[in-house]
Amino acid sequence: MTPESTAEAVDEQLRDEVWDRLQARVLSARWFYDRRGSELFERITRLPEYYPTRTELAILERHASEWMRQLRPGALVELGAGSARKTRVLLDALEVERPGAVYVPLDVSADFLRATAEQLRSEYPSLRIEPEVADLTRALRLHPHGEPPTLFALLGSTLGNFPPPAAVEVLRHIRDAMVEGDTFLLGADLRPSEGKSVEELEAAYNDAAGVTAEFNLNMLAVLNERVGTNFDPTLFLHHAFYDARHGWIEMHLVTPQGCTVRVPGRGSVALEPGASLRTEISAKYDRRVLVELFEAAGLEMEHWVTDERGRYAMAFAHRLD
Ligand code: AVJ
Repeated sequence: MTPESTAEAVDEQLRDEVWDRLQARVLSARWFYDRRGSELFERITRLPEYYPTRTELAILERHASEWMRQLRPGALVELGAGSARKTRVLLDALEVERPGAVYVPLDVSADFLRATAEQLRSEYPSLRIEPEVADLTRALRLHPHGEPPTLFALLGSTLGNFPPPAAVEVLRHIRDAMVEGDTFLLGADLRPSEGKSVEELEAAYNDAAGVTAEFNLNMLAVLNERVGTNFDPTLFLHHAFYDARHGWIEMHLVTPQGCTVRVPGRGSVALEPGASLRTEISAKYDRRVLVELFEAAGLEMEHWVTDERGRYAMAFAHRLD
């Protein structure tokens, strides 16, 4: 296939997916992230209400040196290499404990990786930076990197976007890329408990400045741009709440008056007044739930660290054979 026809096939596939998901009223969190969506998410991570990013960062700052000293990984594979701030805490520690180690940022976006890799090479001359393009929802076919052992890290509660069966798949892909002696490090936001009320959790997704609402609504602009839908964002409201039964946050876009949305080449979907499109789930965990997810994926939890209020956790696991 020529590059053009490949791109067209991808467009057709996306159109089908949007069409199907619109009828089901369940959109995909992947569609948040165009340039503006990424900027909005970056702003979310700095909001006073959004504790997960800074809580994870604080745990890393407290423990990264000790972890790197104990593990001495020859390679650090960061899955879905997101914000650079937490990466730098890990790399600072890695550089001290294992100079010459390899850092492998792994992401779906080749452009993002190129920019990140260039920046990090100049900042960490004693580390080797070897990016890989990969999609967590597929089997990871990684090139060999560095000396054993490898530390695989999935931070930022990224796993939360996957409902449990899909989360197990993601974990299994990671497990299958591991060999004996390797370690997996997961950053995970936790369920309400004594240290965190439902209100505090929900506020993280309903900030006073309205940045999360903007982020949510931006998905409609992304779809208008990429698929040619005709969403009118002014007809939709941001709605986010904690679903205790599933243990996850749901984000929705609600259209109080209703509207009709056209998907070019497919047809129109009539949304009734009050119709609600789910745009994201953000699963929250506790130790028991994570032990079970790990086990289902062939991983064994070996260590568990939280912040002092038990709002956020970092869990270590190894491969179970
Ligand atoms: C990037 C998936 C971890 O679930 O908290 C933030 C995305 N959505 N505010 C999260 C998000 C609304 C975020 N993750």
